[in-house]
Amino acid sequence: MNETMQGLRRTKYCGLFTTEDIGKEAVACGWVQRIRDKGMLVFVDLRDRTGILQLAFDDATEKALREKAQTVRSEYVLMAKGIIRRRESVNHDIPTGEIELYVQELRILNQSLTPPFEISDRTKANDEIRLRYRYLDLRRGEMQHALMMRHKIVKTARDYFDENGFLEIETPCLIKSTPEGARDYLVPSRVKPGSFFALPQSPQLYKQLLMLSGYDRYMQIARCFRDEDLRADRQPEFTQIDLEMSFIDEDDVMTVNEGFMKRAFKEILDVDIPTPFLRMPYQEAMDRFGSDKPDTRFGMELQDLSGMLKDCTFKVFAGALETGSVRAINAKGAADKLTRKEIDKLVDFVKTYRAKGLAFTRLTKDAESSSYEKFLTEEEKQNIRTKMDAQPGDVILIVADPSNQVVYDSLGALRCELAKRLDLIPKGVYNFLWVTEFPLFEYSEEENRYVAKHHPFTHPALSDLDKLESDPGNCHARAYDMVLNGCEVGGGSIRINDPELQAQMFRALGFDNESAQAKFGFLIDAFQYGAPPHGGMAYGLDRLVMLMLEKDSIRDVIAFPKVQNSSELMTQCPAEVEEKSLQELHIKVDLAE
Ligand code: AMO
Ligand code: AMP
Repeated sequence: MNETMQGLRRTKYCGLFTTEDIGKEAVACGWVQRIRDKGMLVFVDLRDRTGILQLAFDDATEKALREKAQTVRSEYVLMAKGIIRRRESVNHDIPTGEIELYVQELRILNQSLTPPFEISDRTKANDEIRLRYRYLDLRRGEMQHALMMRHKIVKTARDYFDENGFLEIETPCLIKSTPEGARDYLVPSRVKPGSFFALPQSPQLYKQLLMLSGYDRYMQIARCFRDEDLRADRQPEFTQIDLEMSFIDEDDVMTVNEGFMKRAFKEILDVDIPTPFLRMPYQEAMDRFGSDKPDTRFGMELQDLSGMLKDCTFKVFAGALETGSVRAINAKGAADKLTRKEIDKLVDFVKTYRAKGLAFTRLTKDAESSSYEKFLTEEEKQNIRTKMDAQPGDVILIVADPSNQVVYDSLGALRCELAKRLDLIPKGVYNFLWVTEFPLFEYSEEENRYVAKHHPFTHPALSDLDKLESDPGNCHARAYDMVLNGCEVGGGSIRINDPELQAQMFRALGFDNESAQAKFGFLIDAFQYGAPPHGGMAYGLDRLVMLMLEKDSIRDVIAFPKVQNSSELMTQCPAEVEEKSLQELHIKVDLAE
């Protein structure tokens, strides 16, 4: 039988005892990190979320008590009473390393099986086992630190936005499916057979309605659900810091959010973030970095070689120019690291971004090799070298493709990959910028129509209003993304508040009145009743925490994340349900295919 806590109360957390407590009676609780049994001397490291306290038993300890200490094992739950005293051998690695609790009473509150992996930051357990036993993984200091930081960031958000006049308002999680964007998670209705709720991809429509209702400034820590493929920075279920404001323009939204970042980084990391952030038009971001979320912590920018190759007879380049481009990056001084074999691997890398090849010139100190120069005139070759500022030691890497998007995507990704491999990314640097002037639409080959790049409520650029239906491909949006170190941490826009403009927008997206009414009728109706000018944005909270803590995946900052196939390893869901539940929902499962 385990013992109880009856009659004893914890004095304070293990990690909070200091030399000031020496000589005082104390009661500590926690889990056994490890036990060192030297016969007459027994030490137990007791752990809680604040740190470790050493429990000590020695030859002066009552024999029965010492023997009891010898029976404890890793992860047992203990309560110990005694006197805080100075340690004989100081441990400089931990804050409580100068003291220990000399135990007079020990209670074993609970036992534990031997954990499947070591509960420590040095654990070698793979992700799968860590996620299966997430409750044990979450005991590790690293995970506890991450979740405590996450808490602080959320608290700072609540404080900051409250101080700036934002009201926290909850919006529903069972909502109408409005298929634009990612796939919805659906929830069947029991009461209305054959009908479904959707889980929100974001609180977008509700927050706009709140502006119409006059709440002026709204914020919410909102759970969002998107049935899309997972990546390191994507989960099917994630959290936004969501906000919306009335009677504002882009500058107001940006200023208030720059203020939030400044505050959060100062309070949480003691880092000064300079404001205002750089603003970079989408097209410039693509041309210079091959990405709409440029990482500006290092150079290696893209250069457009198309102009100087107009008359080129090399079929790979010439074939790209009519509808696309030829662009390059210079991996400065990387010739030693980028051997021919390495370059071959890079060719495979860019192919995953649909590039058909990667041309190179490699200039070592005493030799030159190139896959394409032999196909060019001397002038073309020199022009490229000059444009790329090619020096001995450099490697020029070129992608040519009839699709500009393929050139951007592959070179943009290659640039980031090389920066990692060549160790060009400085630690502890936080580079923020806004990407602005996004295209309003993008053409969907699949649906054979224009779709909204952001969402259908985004206001077109004022200068493009007359092009909305005649030339949608060249319209820009009053949208902005906040980018931090090459990751989109947030995004938003100024919204349409004029019903006539909204109707025009739906037409441009290929919805007739009827289908627009069927999908967004409530919003169209509502907007007949005086919608103020408004706009806002949402942060991916998980991404923000990941970047602030310099983690590689948002999984590391979410308590119970999902894995690649959107399942959860610990509870093994999604899972089948009882036939009775399905019947109540009028659902027949058909796994024929
Ligand atoms: P958007 O779709 O850009 O905008 O989402 C806002 C931010 O949420 C984060 N994010 C994600 N994080 C983790 N996993 C995901 N699957 C995921 N998808 C998005 C990103 C992104 O920048 N309603 C609009 C905002 C607005 O216009 O106000 C919206 O949801 O960091
Ligand atoms: P080829 O004549 O097809 O053998 O190509 C000659 C060189 O051009 C090879 O080094 C290829 O890797 C390179 N190359 C082929 N396709 C492309 C492309 N789309 N972009 C850049 N280089 C390419």
